[in-house]
Amino acid sequence: MTMDVEESGETSIAVEGDIVTCRKLIRNVITVAGFGMTDVTRIVTAVSELARNIYVHADSHGVMRWRVLYQPGQVGIQIEFEDYGKGIPNIDQALEVGFTTAGSLGMGLSGVKRLMDSIVIKSEVSVGTMVSVEKWGRVK
Ligand SMILES: Nc1ncnc2c1ncn2[C@@H]1O[C@H](COP(=O)(O)OP(=O)(O)OP(=O)(O)O)[C@@H](O)[C@H]1O
Ligand SMILES: [Mg+2]
Repeated sequence: MTMDVEESGETSIAVEGDIVTCRKLIRNVITVAGFGMTDVTRIVTAVSELARNIYVHADSHGVMRWRVLYQPGQVGIQIEFEDYGKGIPNIDQALEVGFTTAGSLGMGLSGVKRLMDSIVIKSEVSVGTMVSVEKWGRVK
């Protein structure tokens, strides 16, 4: 299987194996972009949680879109996860450590918030959810 190392693109999330595909894809993109090992691990962990949330909670397919960003002396990555699932009624509550509707740990979204520089969540019940995250690193 050839891996995509495009600076921007999208891939669908429909089956469990797509979570691994998302992880591998972003790992390649951000390694090539110049992120250090620690940041690579953080970002890949965040990707894993957000892709898994679509698979577990959305009851629908979704898509991951990514974009490498450049500023003088800095490189960034923006990753967006969109689904057309059941939506999140209370976003603040969903971001709380330990909140889960699935009998899980409820650590995913709060973990992502900690690992990334920014997280923006937009959601409408019965319409879907969009989670956008960004992280910047210094160019080596
Ligand atoms: N894409 C989504 N669509 C609908 N609901 C979601 C979505 N992502 C998260 N949620 C809701 O937000 C809650 C919190 O998500 P979070 O990832 O923090 O915890 P979790 O997935 O329940 O458990 P963990 O990630 O620790 O296994 C979920 O239980 C679910 O109710
Ligand atoms: Mg989760």
